[in-house]
Amino acid sequence: MAVVTAQKPSEELITIGKTSTQSDAITLRIARSNPAEGQETTYAEFKVPVKKWTTVLEAILYVKQNLDHAVAVRYSCRQASCGSCGMKINGKPALACYTKVSEIKSNVITVEPMNNFPIIRDLAVDFKQLTSNHKKIKPFIINEESEVTPESKEFIQTPKDLEKFLQFSYCIKCGLCNSACPTMATDTSFIGPQGLAQAYRYVADNRDKGKEERLKIVDNSHGIWRCHFAGSCSHVCPKGVDPAMAIQLLRGYMLGFQK
Ligand code: SF4
Ligand code: FES
Repeated sequence: MAVVTAQKPSEELITIGKTSTQSDAITLRIARSNPAEGQETTYAEFKVPVKKWTTVLEAILYVKQNLDHAVAVRYSCRQASCGSCGMKINGKPALACYTKVSEIKSNVITVEPMNNFPIIRDLAVDFKQLTSNHKKIKPFIINEESEVTPESKEFIQTPKDLEKFLQFSYCIKCGLCNSACPTMATDTSFIGPQGLAQAYRYVADNRDKGKEERLKIVDNSHGIWRCHFAGSCSHVCPKGVDPAMAIQLLRGYMLGFQK
């Protein structure tokens, strides 16, 4: 494993968006690789000035802006909403924009691409499989009477009806649950906790009439029965979604315990 060290020549202490004379510094180790060109993983080390509110994403962007423009990282919203910046941070799957350097309690932070996803380059991984599994479970309300006409009335949904699926609708498709899942690591065709949790989200919605259709899609050896209930998906979700529970509830529909 090669290590490349880079440092800003001036040693000037600049925190993202601010200049300061009293910043702490961390060592940020970034996994670098480019599988398309046969380049295996190396770790590049950078000294990065931080404040207590600096996020891991900001530390990476500091490197991009000041030390090495070529680091590949995907991000967009910087506020835990878009689901783009998932990665391993000191070995744990997390959103870089939602993880403060000060929470990690180490002066050395290693960032690596998420497990169970093909690497495009450095920290950026390929989301094709996640997106296609998400689409496979038909992530929309199926209801032929949903056309709005002058005679339409609203669909009645009580707070209790909403509660059945609300937490699952908070999924931002970041893929952290899939990256933590040991079954995904051994079965690349597994739909995964993200897709299965979304299948439950729509099956449990009282406006939806696509239950039979969706249950057929997940009822196979790479679907709902492949989950071994390790539960790691639920531990890493940054939005409080519990995919492991969704899978159990979906099995309830499948076995006829739930209607
Ligand atoms: S369930 Fe949670 S961890 Fe999984 S994709 Fe959705 S938001 Fe991310
Ligand atoms: S940048 Fe959007 S979730 Fe982190």
